[in-house]
Amino acid sequence: MPKQKIGILGLGAYAPARVMENSEWAEYLDTSDEWIRTRTGIERRRLAAEDETTADLACHAARAALRDAGLEATDLDEIIVATDTPEVYTPDTASFVQHQLGAREIPAYDLGGSGCAGFLQAIDVARARVHFGKQRILVVGAELLTRLMDWQDRSTAVLFGDGAGAVVIGEVDGAGEILGATAGTDGSKWDILCLRVGGTRYPFTLERAQNREHRDVTMHGREVFRAAVQRMSGASSRLLADLGLGVDDIDLVVPHQANLRIIDAVTRALGADPAKVYTNVQEYGNTGSASVPLALAQARDAGRVRAGDRVLLTSFGAGFHWAALVIQF
Ligand code: ACO
Repeated sequence: MPKQKIGILGLGAYAPARVMENSEWAEYLDTSDEWIRTRTGIERRRLAAEDETTADLACHAARAALRDAGLEATDLDEIIVATDTPEVYTPDTASFVQHQLGAREIPAYDLGGSGCAGFLQAIDVARARVHFGKQRILVVGAELLTRLMDWQDRSTAVLFGDGAGAVVIGEVDGAGEILGATAGTDGSKWDILCLRVGGTRYPFTLERAQNREHRDVTMHGREVFRAAVQRMSGASSRLLADLGLGVDDIDLVVPHQANLRIIDAVTRALGADPAKVYTNVQEYGNTGSASVPLALAQARDAGRVRAGDRVLLTSFGAGFHWAALVIQF
């Protein structure tokens, strides 16, 4: 039996209209454009409108991906939403997306809490689901980080932005095929990057809320930096080796867009040509699980992905979780 080719049928993204420049942060925090730019490469980010929610961002990106695939929402067989900034605590954001899109009564579920790695983990899951009979699976990465973070914490607030990206996964005739994927977790590092209040271990209380702990993202920046570089480059190298490919066989690398210095270090560790590495963190900041599909969609729209190109995607986030994936367009 010929091996089933599973891949991307459509790709789309959405970024809210409102642009927030680094200099605007000085109104809220003791920071500067110069600090943010030199430490992270970020110049500006997008902010969702007051009446926009995570499901709205997700649906904009999902409709773009469906249009790109030439499909309707009613053609979908399953929906997976990767987000750390859900619509409500329960039920999951996927319920809202299923309803808002007008999809049939299909399985829809979230892959939440994986930080920025959630989208690639979800694609890997979708690939397996297609293998076992589902035909068209919508995978969305959507984050509205600016609404949930602490605008008084300069060490985290300035890093993030809002956005969404989506793909439809299904059987392909060759173009868009996922050649391979890998993912991993090291849960011993859960407290290096976390938002701890609100679950069973640290329930939400009035006292905690008064201390703003429900918005307190703990992040040991340097440790996250080191692990992000090591895990994204390590997973990518192992995946390429498994596929019998060298880094020169890759036409474009689309890494998680957290920080230009992290991306530069991953590029060096991989031995990749910097001209083959796509970045848009300058314009959008870190959009969590939306970062990779947003960057991939923009890279394609900018003509950076041509027919036949092999594209390496890699991501790292809270957990720690990480993932890498190679697609042949
Ligand atoms: N403006 C001005 N000063 C600031 C700001 C700010 N926004 N934030 C922190 N500082 C100060 C600190 O208080 C510190 O001051 P001190 O020396 O007086 O104590 C000083 O700047 C230096 O801080 P460092 O932590 O040494 O700065 P560093 O060069 O490590 O950069 C950064 C910090 C950008 C967070 C970096 O560690 C990083 O990018 N880490 C990765 C974190 C990340 O990307 N997280 C996103 C989620 S996970 C992911 O997506 C991979």
